[in-house]
Amino acid sequence: MADAEAHGHGGETRRDFILLLGNAMAVVGVGALAWPLIDSLSPAADTKAASTTEVDLAPIKAGQRVSVKWRGSPVFIEHRTPETIARAVKDDKVSMPDPQPDAERHQEGKAQWLVMVGVCTHLGCIPLGQNTGDKRGDYGGWFCPCHGSHYDASGRIRKGPAPKNLPVPDYRFVTDTRIVIGEKPKKPAA
Ligand code: FES
Repeated sequence: MADAEAHGHGGETRRDFILLLGNAMAVVGVGALAWPLIDSLSPAADTKAASTTEVDLAPIKAGQRVSVKWRGSPVFIEHRTPETIARAVKDDKVSMPDPQPDAERHQEGKAQWLVMVGVCTHLGCIPLGQNTGDKRGDYGGWFCPCHGSHYDASGRIRKGPAPKNLPVPDYRFVTDTRIVIGEKPKKPAA
């Protein structure tokens, strides 16, 4: 059955937490708590499910964060507001442990969509920040409660023992508001 506990942090509400299980083509909708595991998946479908996760971004409102499951790990998706994007870009030149401009952490022309694997790069805890009321750390991004790592609005590590930014997975826009996580973006035609 659903392994929502793998993503939990004690008893916090998981109202923004969306768990996608099983079917790679299943589409995530905001407000769902958990997807029931589809027991009747064929092995082939199961394998495919493990490699890609398709997400409908359309219901995700500006400022909202949701989580989906991909290859057994949570993926954090945020529909960033212009203010959040501006804050991330403003910090591009600040000294940080794993320097990376915000523009390299989203797809071209899609700065409003931040997609990252939600696993702390220190020892693998799941950072807080996805649920309403969560601590977001000193930089308004995510906070790992295990040993106190602070990630910024771009998911970059800014303070604490984590050595690397939250990883950005391969993902591809199949429409303007739908992505497949686990597939590389198509290169523009030459
Ligand atoms: S696992 Fe996140 S700070 Fe240690």
